[in-house]
Amino acid sequence: MVPFRLISVVLFFTAVVSILSPPFSLGIRYFPTSGGNGGLLLRFSEAPEYRNGAECAISGDKTSSSCDRSLVHIAMTLDREYLRGSVAAVHSVLKHASCPNNVFFHFIAAEFDSASPRVLAQLVRSTFPSLRFKVYIFREDTVINLISSSIREALENPLNYARNYLGDILDPCVDRVIYLDSDVVVVDDIRKLWNITLTGSRVIGAPEYCHANFTNYFTDGFWSDSVISRVFRSRKPCYFNTGVMVMDLVRWREGNYRKRIEYWMEVQKKKRIYDLGSLPPFLLVFGGNVEAIDHRWNQHGLGGDNVRGSCRSLHPGPVSLLHWSGKGKPWVRLDEGKPCPLDSLWEPYDLICKPKYLENSSPLSSPSIMIDGPRSSYYLLR
Ligand SMILES: *[C@@H]1O[C@H](CO)[C@@H](O)[C@H](O)[C@H]1NC(C)=O
Ligand SMILES: *[C@@H]1O[C@H](CO)[C@@H](O)[C@H](O)[C@H]1NC(C)=O
Repeated sequence: MVPFRLISVVLFFTAVVSILSPPFSLGIRYFPTSGGNGGLLLRFSEAPEYRNGAECAISGDKTSSSCDRSLVHIAMTLDREYLRGSVAAVHSVLKHASCPNNVFFHFIAAEFDSASPRVLAQLVRSTFPSLRFKVYIFREDTVINLISSSIREALENPLNYARNYLGDILDPCVDRVIYLDSDVVVVDDIRKLWNITLTGSRVIGAPEYCHANFTNYFTDGFWSDSVISRVFRSRKPCYFNTGVMVMDLVRWREGNYRKRIEYWMEVQKKKRIYDLGSLPPFLLVFGGNVEAIDHRWNQHGLGGDNVRGSCRSLHPGPVSLLHWSGKGKPWVRLDEGKPCPLDSLWEPYDLICKPKYLENSSPLSSPSIMIDGPRSSYYLLR
């Protein structure tokens, strides 16, 4: 349980920010002041320090600029529920990167997470003292009206949709990003994934699974509507998993792909064309037109087949990234003492200290707030 004091402080804090931040007009940049970590229940031990090898390009300043050409950009969401997974994922990337100091993380946190974005940022900082990262605050009202109500109660965390907005959220100088879900570990040099070529005018790269029955990702209502289902007429779409994607943000922004995805979310609101949440709009826009990356970069489904207690084994072939998609998460199963065999591959990246309530947590002092010019509906936490 979150101590009540934290909830009230967070509410107060976001209220202050909202008053100063009319939607879609101003961005707010605010700076954390020093202090305790606000009563957060999870504690992580500091990760070992990983350093660049001699062959690495020397990247410029070690501070906050994300415009350095030698950087590998990774975007992930950061929230209380998956925090332990996110920390393990970051740890795994650093451990296997040939140039860990050249990796830049862009974390997207929800405005109303039960742990405030500021607290999450402090936690990342204390776990990875030399990590280069930014935390952006995602305003739920950006998507809340686009999420169709029938689905929302089932699985709809607005943060699932943050990947639709990376082109808007990240600095314009970031022209490529790797999006990663929080339930992955990377066991290879991330720069190999970063280096793939997106041929032609392709906007995203991801492993494709053409043997999966594509029909099942959409409703009968979709397939029986000849106008709507015409979207696939000139393509041969294959399923791909949106938990690992290489995204060309220049093409994304130029082609206004956010709007294209939102278009299908609007259609879904009027007529139920799919049952899952954030994935089908990506299939509609990109299916049959993604750069097919080697399957080693997304060994997914390790969370089980959406059945509690079901364990998966690895697909044949080499592995560069393990993905616990599905209902079961390795940290939960490990804590329950009922891990799946492959959860032992996640465990070495876990940095959790035993959960404990923080005694003497000092209330958050009010942050200093600075208005920072137009930046649509996102604001940046440093
Ligand atoms: C990635 O590409 C760069 C530039 O072309 C090259 O120097 C580097 O060796 C590549 N790294 C990997 C791991 O493929
Ligand atoms: C795919 O699934 C649909 C609906 O469940 C079924 O009618 C169709 O025959 C399947 N296609 C293949 C190739 O298995």
